[in-house]
Amino acid sequence: MSSVVNDRKAGGDRLTTGLIRIIEVGPRDGLQNEPGIIPTENKIAFVNALSRTGVAEIEAGSFVSPKAVPQLADSDEVFRKIERMPHVVYSALVPNERGLERARAVAAQKIAVFTAASETFAQRNIHATIRESIDRFVPVISGAKRDGMAVRGYISTAIFCPYEGRIEPARSAEVMKRLLDLGVDDISLGDTIGKASPADVRALLDTVLPHIARERVSLHFHDTYGMAVANALTAWKEYGIETFDSSAGGLGGCPHAPGASGNVATEDLIVALKASGATVPVDEEKVMAAGRQIGGTLNRPFASRLSKIS
Ligand code: HMG
Ligand code: MG
Repeated sequence: MSSVVNDRKAGGDRLTTGLIRIIEVGPRDGLQNEPGIIPTENKIAFVNALSRTGVAEIEAGSFVSPKAVPQLADSDEVFRKIERMPHVVYSALVPNERGLERARAVAAQKIAVFTAASETFAQRNIHATIRESIDRFVPVISGAKRDGMAVRGYISTAIFCPYEGRIEPARSAEVMKRLLDLGVDDISLGDTIGKASPADVRALLDTVLPHIARERVSLHFHDTYGMAVANALTAWKEYGIETFDSSAGGLGGCPHAPGASGNVATEDLIVALKASGATVPVDEEKVMAAGRQIGGTLNRPFASRLSKIS
């Protein structure tokens, strides 16, 4: 099967390689919404297991307020104790300068700042308007760059907001342009509540891709309505997007996105992309094993489809 797809919408007759980059967000997005506190050593073992799967990046923790997300208050210790593999980039969520200090102290290679395309969600999640959040990022991004860290910019509710409903693609594009102006290296567009369909993904990508190289775009699908895999295949096949955020076992959720399910399961995404002809240098069996290992401590059913048949 060909590993080359025609990038007919994003770049005319440009061709993509078909090589997929997986950003594993399970240790952060996957664990931030768990009702209980997971022992630090289990988180460390989870990251270490994921490091051996072939994923390009692991979002290993979050340097947000421990009052906002107590589940990840021990991210500093996790970062200090994980065994880092040379081919893996270890990143963390950072909301402000205090978060950057913490990321710096544990030598995170990459930080992820995060805002939203919806004002209501931004207010609930980070207690700021979109503009205030971006103003807050100015010293964070420049400080990270000075220290040689890469910076990702997340845009939550890029398609639907749990409070405002459908978000016009132009609003996400506007926020994206402001983050790019500040120097972020890559943008992750989040379907935070997992409601988007392939048609919504097309509308978003048609609007944003004229303003950013698709190599700098990652798509972050939650899977509430079961369309995440279809969305990723659409983005890859039709637009040449090759970077996807996902979490082992389909763990995840956001404390301010009521009812939203976890991220698309990494192992299910890999199976679907491989079956569609993509080269995905990640071992889905190892991802599933890592998810099972942490899942055993969470006391809830495992969400991935692959896990139900193997
Ligand atoms: P705030 O409450 O507005 O005000 O926080 P603050 O800045 O005064 O901070 C409150 C307290 O937190 C203070 O402590 C600060 O010192 C402390 P107190 O004086 O009350 O004892 N604090 C910190 N402590 C440690 N590290 C820090 C830090 N910052 C403040 N970095 C703030 C504003 C943004 C900090 C807070 O609202 C926050 O941390 N929010 C994070 C919410 C969050 O993590 N949500 C989930 C992640 S986003 C997501 O899941 C979506 C995504 O997956 C993409 C998608 O799916 O769409 C990325
Ligand atoms: Mg998320």
